[in-house]
Amino acid sequence: MRQPMVAGNWKMNGSREANEALVKEVLGALTSPAKAEIVVCPPYVYLPQVAALVDGSAIGLGAQDVSDQDAGAYTGEVSGSMLRDVGCAYVIVGHSERRSLYAEDDDFTARKFAAARRHGLKPILCVGELLEERESGVTEQVVARQLDAVLDLEGVESLKDAVIAYEPVWAIGTGKTATPEQAQAVHAFIRSRVAERDAGVADGVRILYGGSVKADNAAELFSQPDIDGGLIGGASLKAADFLAICRAAD
Ligand code: G3P
Repeated sequence: MRQPMVAGNWKMNGSREANEALVKEVLGALTSPAKAEIVVCPPYVYLPQVAALVDGSAIGLGAQDVSDQDAGAYTGEVSGSMLRDVGCAYVIVGHSERRSLYAEDDDFTARKFAAARRHGLKPILCVGELLEERESGVTEQVVARQLDAVLDLEGVESLKDAVIAYEPVWAIGTGKTATPEQAQAVHAFIRSRVAERDAGVADGVRILYGGSVKADNAAELFSQPDIDGGLIGGASLKAADFLAICRAAD
């Protein structure tokens, strides 16, 4: 049985004051244990602050990106060992915004996935198609290509300590959520693609949905057999909304 997971991707948002208010409000309202594993992913610079705020609580910490390098002359980069140093357990890799805005291709994403694992971080591997790819009927080919780049480099066993997030790019930040049926179909495809390599790993890997998950649509999405929770953007910045989404996984 896969434990549900809800991860908040704060993206480039927050301030010391806002972070403290947000985390304290979520923790204050989390009066009974949630069934879902809850993780928040702040910007790099706020990881130490948020790590201290969630320390000893039911909320875990993740980063939004990681260098494919381990150390050295890579100005501006942050290594997996540094993320572990400040308390991260997870790291998002291959988010569509990294792929589209910063030209991170499948091979680069696979190297970041490998770097995360080298340093004991659990990668949250993002895959998903563009609107024109969905409209062209090549969603499965795109997601398979993105997934295979990682599996070819790291092997299917690597998913035992990783999470996959399906994020249709056309649903991110648009308010245009994939229907539960659309999302379930791709999640089932992802799981079947993994099962071609190892059925046990496929059954155990958590596949999150991301793309305009809100308090009013989370429960129906999470009720789908192959949707194991969500990777939440905008709604993770509002305590009541984020908590409602976490509770939708109960
Ligand atoms: O990584 C999660 C994010 O891409 C989804 O954003 O605002 O559509 O929930 P949002």
